[in-house]
Amino acid sequence: MSHLIAPSLLSADFSNLKKDIEMVNESDADWFHLDIMDGHFVPNISFGIPVIKSIKKYAKKSLDVHLMITNPEDYIEKFIEVGADILTIHVEACKENTAHILKEIKERNIKAGLAINPNTDYNVIEDYINLIDMVCLMGVFPGFGGQKIIDSTFQRCKRIKEIISKNGENCYLEVDGGVTAENANKLLESGADVLVAGSYVFHSNNPKDSISMLKNI
Ligand code: DX5
Ligand code: ZN
Repeated sequence: MSHLIAPSLLSADFSNLKKDIEMVNESDADWFHLDIMDGHFVPNISFGIPVIKSIKKYAKKSLDVHLMITNPEDYIEKFIEVGADILTIHVEACKENTAHILKEIKERNIKAGLAINPNTDYNVIEDYINLIDMVCLMGVFPGFGGQKIIDSTFQRCKRIKEIISKNGENCYLEVDGGVTAENANKLLESGADVLVAGSYVFHSNNPKDSISMLKNI
């Protein structure tokens, strides 16, 4: 299977979101990556449920919704209602509730993802590997687009891939934060299946071509 590309709309033009949605529809991208920030789990606020509902009307590809919020269990239902196809929660945001929340997502027949921050021990993934469809490995501390990837990400990516392989491969490994055409190849070699890219795509002269660049590596 070739790798997947998920452009993050966090770096899109919010005053003309429909144009950027249509660009992604027509591009080589596979999914839309949607970053939900609550100003509490991360020190920034992005957009929420009504915006996803509007995006869903025009998006022709799966919505990969990344919840950077505390108490994600209180909002799972709402994000599914407005059209999330993949719902990712942070292991740091739920602690002892993690398995329960993941099961709740799976019961609704959408994909469940588990995100881990750069300073979280990746071995935690082993506890949940049978409940998830995707690991979202953060390449930066979440909260803002446009940061540089943290060097340890490549090594962490390899280790997480080993955990996934040991358990039967049935789980995507997504890398989110700081992805560019320069480091994409190394991430794929380290085991990444899905690359999220925000600023690299939307701050380039030709976002559609930048998506193709990442897809054709
Ligand atoms: C980071 C978000 C990312 C972000 C990626 O907090 O979770 O999805 O949009 O942006 P870039 O690709 O610019 O690092
Ligand atoms: Zn994200």
